[in-house]
Amino acid sequence: MALSRLKQIFGKKRYDFKEAFSEFSKSLTLIIDIDQLKDNVISKIREVIQVDTILIFLLNPDLNRYELAESRGLESPETNQFFFFPDEPLIKWFTINETFLSISKEPEIFSYFSDHEQQILNEAGIQLLFPLLVMNRVAGLVCLGQKETKKPFTKEEIELLNTLLGQAAFAFENAYLYRQQKTRLKKMYRADRLATLGQLSAGAAHEIRNPLTSIRSTIQYLQKEVQDENKRTLVSGLLEEVDRINDIIEGLLSFSKPSTPQTEQVNLKALLEQTISLVGTTAKKQNINITFDFKTPENMLKADPSQLKQVFLNIIMNAVQAMEYGGDFNISADLMKIEGFASQPRNSFYIVFKDSGKGIPGEHLDHIFDPFFTTKKDGTGLGLSISYGIIQQHGGDIEIESHEKTERPGDYGTTVSILLPVM
Ligand SMILES: Nc1ncnc2c1ncn2[C@@H]1O[C@H](COP(=O)(O)OP(=O)(O)O)[C@@H](O)[C@H]1O
Ligand SMILES: [Mg+2]
Repeated sequence: MALSRLKQIFGKKRYDFKEAFSEFSKSLTLIIDIDQLKDNVISKIREVIQVDTILIFLLNPDLNRYELAESRGLESPETNQFFFFPDEPLIKWFTINETFLSISKEPEIFSYFSDHEQQILNEAGIQLLFPLLVMNRVAGLVCLGQKETKKPFTKEEIELLNTLLGQAAFAFENAYLYRQQKTRLKKMYRADRLATLGQLSAGAAHEIRNPLTSIRSTIQYLQKEVQDENKRTLVSGLLEEVDRINDIIEGLLSFSKPSTPQTEQVNLKALLEQTISLVGTTAKKQNINITFDFKTPENMLKADPSQLKQVFLNIIMNAVQAMEYGGDFNISADLMKIEGFASQPRNSFYIVFKDSGKGIPGEHLDHIFDPFFTTKKDGTGLGLSISYGIIQQHGGDIEIESHEKTERPGDYGTTVSILLPVM
């Protein structure tokens, strides 16, 4: 039946459509978007065979869990419990055997799997499993339920699926590497651009500072000379504006050359709490619900407390400003082991600020760390660029992910993640 279906698709005779199908699957490797790839694999499986359920599991970036990346035809609400571990029997079986598994043909294998694994297979009614093999590593699993005709899978169907999924494995690996490379390049470009901007702005800041100092002292001198009350007010207005320019220049300088951190033992929890308390009143007024989870008993860190406070305050203020009409703001801190490049894994604090504000449009995301990039009427656009510099100076990293409400109605807002090595 699947064969006649394939004849329809390829319009070829039996002996060469297998080859055609293989060519057809190879084209998968040209798709570099993982979501698109998943859709394509599923629709290609469906061209071969009608099954009630299709699940795709992929190894996560931390390489410690196979997570459900796509599911079709599954009604179970418990899918958040659907994952496999590399060191448990199921994945081990595939690593050793490097081939598909038909549960109805080898029922005795079932009892060899862990309870958790059996439960998933049962709940989803899985009959046939294909490993996504790259070299001799299991990069993922494709699990199929029952055929809609309830008949067993034929040898031919299995063979075709095997060819298809063999190619799909490479396609997934490609897409995954591509995504990794893209993130890496993006970070490199950003660091490069910010370094250039930093040099430029430091130069400009110095140039502006000198004339500004003489403008300020001249105004101060004139202020004493002016008798008329109204004119005096005007002149002190001038002074305030000059001071504002000066603040901007200071900010600019601290972005381009953040002063070397004056590190000391810092109590991270206390520092975060202090900073949160600074916005308490505003948050209440705006109907923002702030929650704070400090998930680790350890909280000492070697850092510059006033610089870190500046970073936290910037981020928190941004969140508050993005939630003009209320929302939820969660701050969490946890300790994590990070694999350093060519170094020992290091303990790092992982601090996440998640707001349900208006979000950042995609076209802005690449620029929010640029000095002077702002979308606010009276913003300076220096908050994030300064924070970026400070975190880099501490040997850490800062990342921002955001979704606008229109783009993702269910889960929108901005998440700022900071990684700080415990030195
Ligand atoms: N939590 C957030 N939600 C929405 N937009 C944000 C958030 N954080 C930063 N942004 C965007 O990034 C821009 C730059 O932020 P920042 O460098 O702190 O400068 P400023 O706050 O002075 O505008 C902001 O103008 C805003 O458009
Ligand atoms: Mg800001």
